[in-house]
Amino acid sequence: MKGVILAGGTGSRLHPLTKVTNKHLLPVGRKPMIYHPIEKMCAAGLKEILIVTGCEHIGDVMSLLGSGKDFGCSFTFRVQDEAGGIAQALALAEHFAAGDAVTVILGDNIFEGSIAPMIRAFEEAGGKGAVLGLKKVAQPQRFGVAEVRGGRIVAIEEKPANPKSDLAVIGIYIYDSSVYDIIRGLKPSARGEYEITDVNNTYIAQGALRYHDLEGWWTDAGTFESLAQANELVTRE
Ligand code: G1P
Repeated sequence: MKGVILAGGTGSRLHPLTKVTNKHLLPVGRKPMIYHPIEKMCAAGLKEILIVTGCEHIGDVMSLLGSGKDFGCSFTFRVQDEAGGIAQALALAEHFAAGDAVTVILGDNIFEGSIAPMIRAFEEAGGKGAVLGLKKVAQPQRFGVAEVRGGRIVAIEEKPANPKSDLAVIGIYIYDSSVYDIIRGLKPSARGEYEITDVNNTYIAQGALRYHDLEGWWTDAGTFESLAQANELVTRE
């Protein structure tokens, strides 16, 4: 199992904070945002981690993080040339993963619990298919929203105006090595991006998607409101 942290995108919802700075370098508690997912991966025993970010910020991200020595892991860096969506960024991990499964965390996801039980769940089920995390949220229309029936996710809608549940698909995913073929088969969405929700719906169609309830609190930090909340939650810990 290898780790992938996706830290690209324009951060448009946080302008002007993100006008010259990458969103994932903004402070959350006493650390840059991206430290939080990195520390979760390292604590779960993932030692090889790929960081993907845009061309304009890769220098800053590398200067901040270095080789990984300070975290007890090893970093590889890749540039995403344009902000073309989460699935497009994940496609850049294929060579790095070299046939292994990957745990993917969106760099603006801040959470309390350990990801180790989720990785165990994936491995105990034979290390095939995909596992994603779900959390009950107050504003599901801001997220990918899962419809769950009989203990299985039957569909996921990306940012639906009329959500079918209050279960957000959080930005922690585990994929087997078939994910790259799935991404190659995707078409861009109406907003012109390669959507991770389309990847997950393909796994559903194959009967290969499971979910895991992550322990403890979770938030993203991609809006002013959620960034403030992430700071509060982390500081309270
Ligand atoms: C992304 C995903 C969405 C997911 C969210 C979790 O949205 O597209 O499905 O629920 O991350 O943080 P974004 O916040 O990048 O728009």
